Amino acid sequence: MRTSIRVAALGATLLLALPTASFAEGDAKLPHSDNDVRNIPSLQRGARNFINYCSGCHSAQFVRFNRIGTDLGISEAELKANLMFTAERSFETIRSSMSPADARKWFGNAPPDLSLMARARSPDYLFAFLTGFYADPSRPTGVNNVVLPGTAMPHVLADLQGVQTLLPAPPGEAEDEDADVTSRLKPGSSGTLSPEKYAEFARDTVNFLEYIGEPAQVKRRDLGVWVTLFLLVFTGFAFLLKREYFRDIH
Ligand code: HEC
Repeated sequence: MRTSIRVAALGATLLLALPTASFAEGDAKLPHSDNDVRNIPSLQRGARNFINYCSGCHSAQFVRFNRIGTDLGISEAELKANLMFTAERSFETIRSSMSPADARKWFGNAPPDLSLMARARSPDYLFAFLTGFYADPSRPTGVNNVVLPGTAMPHVLADLQGVQTLLPAPPGEAEDEDADVTSRLKPGSSGTLSPEKYAEFARDTVNFLEYIGEPAQVKRRDLGVWVTLFLLVFTGFAFLLKREYFRDIH
């Protein structure tokens, strides 16, 4: 009995000690994605971004269109008109328009399914990835990425963002405490969106990716607030009741 308690305690300690993000570039800091899965308009924009700019290569096999419709308040007709380009029926999942074999042939690396990517990597990492492309003529795609050096993914958002340049690290200077992995990126050729608008585009897309990693969280977070309020109020009543019961004893 004792041992099993000890094993359980050790297990819990180990679980708590697990890092939440798996970004492994030394101590390089990630920028904050600042996305909010309770922001429904942002999720709607993110869904549109994902379908238009990502689903050509990436699938999201664990999420169904009708679930997205229910959670994000999008009607079946709107789903069909604006999002379901790769599906006939709304209970289908998001498939990519490209076969994995073709993808491997063209890119060398198959584009991974993105259903659980926000949980595997963290929203901050995804935000850094989407804002972190810069010109690198030595790469077959002409670009490189600050969080995934040598990535096989082309800069598919170059029309929107333009292509940034990476400034060399200042020699011999101490690293700026506040600098994150994207700090040395400077606008190069310009795209159709301003840097602020592009950051919003990336934030909405990351928001959608975080949502599909666990669709129930949109409802759960709302519920969590009420449960916490209930527990607080209930604690008050329990305390009053305790005082009532113990009044005659003391
Ligand atoms: C032209 C095809 C293509 C499009 C379009 C595309 N990607 Fe990718 N993506 C790839 C490939 C190929 C890889 C594999 C990269 C690698 O392993 O180096 C990848 C990898 C990724 C990864 C994994 C990064 C990692 O750390 O392993 C993420 C996240 C990602 N893409 C997000 C997106 C998002 C979001 C969009 C839409 C804005 C998008 N991609 C559009 C081809 C594409």
